[in-house]
Amino acid sequence: MRPARALIDLAALRHNYRLARELGGRKALAVVKADAYGHGAVRCARALEPEADGFGVACIEEALELREAGIRAPILLLEGFFEASELALIEAHDLWFVVQADWQIDAIERARPAKPFTVWLKLDSGMHRLGLAAQNYGAALHRLQAMPHVGEVVAMTHFARADELDCDRTGQQLALFNQVCAEASLPTSLENSPALLGWPDVHGDWSRPGLMLYGASPFAGTHPVADRLRPVMTVESGIISVRDLGVGEPVGYGARFVTRRPSRIGVVAMGYADGYPQFVPNGTPVAIDGRPGDLVGRVSMDMLTVDLTDHPTAGLGSRVELWGAQVRVHDLAARCETSAYQLLCALKRVPRTYVEE
Ligand SMILES: Cc1ncc(COP(=O)(O)O)c(C=O)c1O
Repeated sequence: MRPARALIDLAALRHNYRLARELGGRKALAVVKADAYGHGAVRCARALEPEADGFGVACIEEALELREAGIRAPILLLEGFFEASELALIEAHDLWFVVQADWQIDAIERARPAKPFTVWLKLDSGMHRLGLAAQNYGAALHRLQAMPHVGEVVAMTHFARADELDCDRTGQQLALFNQVCAEASLPTSLENSPALLGWPDVHGDWSRPGLMLYGASPFAGTHPVADRLRPVMTVESGIISVRDLGVGEPVGYGARFVTRRPSRIGVVAMGYADGYPQFVPNGTPVAIDGRPGDLVGRVSMDMLTVDLTDHPTAGLGSRVELWGAQVRVHDLAARCETSAYQLLCALKRVPRTYVEE
């Protein structure tokens, strides 16, 4: 069997959720969209359900997957509904949803649910992706509050640059949010992972941690709070072939690596079809049988190559960690000009094994 696998540490997931709640101090909506950032939404939601205040997903399809798996906790549709017809399913499955545009309010007005909807009214405080503009927010809130079939309303916004700790954009977004929502005295929801980890003065009633649940830091380098996260996913595979090469020998497609010394090259069963990034530089970190090592050469579809020259005991069957406890996914992301979000979500084809403790 192909030795590639992803180990998912559910105890680490719970540890990270508790850290999110400790930092936010109140309720935390565990964001499990995109199949829990590649970790498996149903398994992660089940592991968190005993303590999670609720779950955040991108769309009704993701919410229904959780409901069908028996998840009974509140589920919020972070992008709301895409068409009015979804309101019937929202009612049937008792979902919460974000309201981010006037057309959605028109649709809610026409609905007649048996039980009032819980809605999170989103302010566009500067991200300019979803949400009502500041000048329209009050009127939208008024309309919703006048509807007998709208129950609780939570005021929310989303930060665009909270991962940039010396950027004043987060402060500006927060100031606008406070100004627009101050008089409404609604429950609030502000923090994503970078805000929870890096902006201790930002406090809403509900935080919305995603990335940090999975043990990845949104920041480059070390960070005193983010360093308390425990990695959840370890992606590893095995060495399936070993080559002894002389000096000046090219390795792999495009001769992207040429040996400068007599070298032992190991071939690992992992490639870009698994979601590992194709264009990583020579020297990208891996761990070979638990020791730091280097990827060399271009990543192929199903294989990649590592330098075993300084790993004399490694050989066929040796275990190579691509990311996990030793190669942190955010460090790998920084080395190959992508993000931990993208690396985690891109993983596919690699079977997942869940570890409870
Ligand atoms: C509205 C909203 N809230 C929270 C999150 C979670 O963000 P993060 O993964 O940075 O914690 C996301 C993710 O993109 C989001 O879109």
